[in-house]
Amino acid sequence: MNYITEINKLKKEKNAVILAHCYQNIEIDEVADYVGDSLYLSQMAAKTDADIIIFAGVYFMAQTAKILNPSKKVILPNLNAGCEMADMINLQQLREFKNKYPNIPTVCYINSTAEVKSECDICCTSSNAVKIVKSLNSDKVLFLPDRNLGRWVEKQLGNVKVITYDGCCPIHNKLNPTEIKETKTKYPKAIVLAHPECTEEFLSQADYVGSTSGIINFVKNSNEKEFIIATEKGVLDRLKRDYPDKKFYDVYNKPSICPSMKLNTIEDIYNALLNEAPEIEVDKEISQKALKCINRMLEVSK
Ligand code: 13P
Ligand code: SF4
Repeated sequence: MNYITEINKLKKEKNAVILAHCYQNIEIDEVADYVGDSLYLSQMAAKTDADIIIFAGVYFMAQTAKILNPSKKVILPNLNAGCEMADMINLQQLREFKNKYPNIPTVCYINSTAEVKSECDICCTSSNAVKIVKSLNSDKVLFLPDRNLGRWVEKQLGNVKVITYDGCCPIHNKLNPTEIKETKTKYPKAIVLAHPECTEEFLSQADYVGSTSGIINFVKNSNEKEFIIATEKGVLDRLKRDYPDKKFYDVYNKPSICPSMKLNTIEDIYNALLNEAPEIEVDKEISQKALKCINRMLEVSK
């Protein structure tokens, strides 16, 4: 069976849309209607008039799409696709964190559960985190779960104390400052582009720090020919495909792979569309509270 043809047929029949994150297996782009970073995909999820949303991404992304579209079917093709960072803080831990630092606005990274979002003031993604924190007009904010992104935001703003929870993305966090030094020595002409989920020591050696889309746009707008890409392999794969005249390198020639992001396959997407399952459900009360946190972000990001 040609899954791509069948998926495209089913999409039309069922008025379905496929949203895919840039870290997904690259062949998924052939059936996706929108491919992008977390912010772009949440904006597309908020706008769609499709009846069914297939989210080729991880659990918190599909959950966010469901919160934005409570009456639509939202399907995550492989239910095992979680996010290790999002699982680093639960509601109990959030409450303890807030109790430790009372009366301070709380910003949660979109990489968090619906329960956590339901008790935060506003959420953010890596592409709008600086803008979101700034929008609160507060000299202090609580930021969770990603300590690396929180620290990076604090550095960009200079006048806001960002109190971070001690979570991280294990994939970006393990990108090694010594290895980037050696990779730069090996490719001296290459520009280093890094995701803000990397550690502060690592980011201090980057030429540009930005979200998935930020990195892709940097390459698009640059006359440079060689780049070291310090983020998940999906970005590097797409850059190699889209800019065949430029050279892209992994840090230390070791691809960074998020195993969860690679779980969804074309076959899973076909089965998800055919069976309209596995569906994502969110408790109504949690969903309504989490929606406020997400909508506030979308409003600021307009
Ligand atoms: P962005 O899509 O905001 O770049 O985030 C990267 C990520 O780790 C998603 O899980
Ligand atoms: Fe979560 Fe990191 Fe994977 Fe993104 S790359 S889904 S933050 S574990």
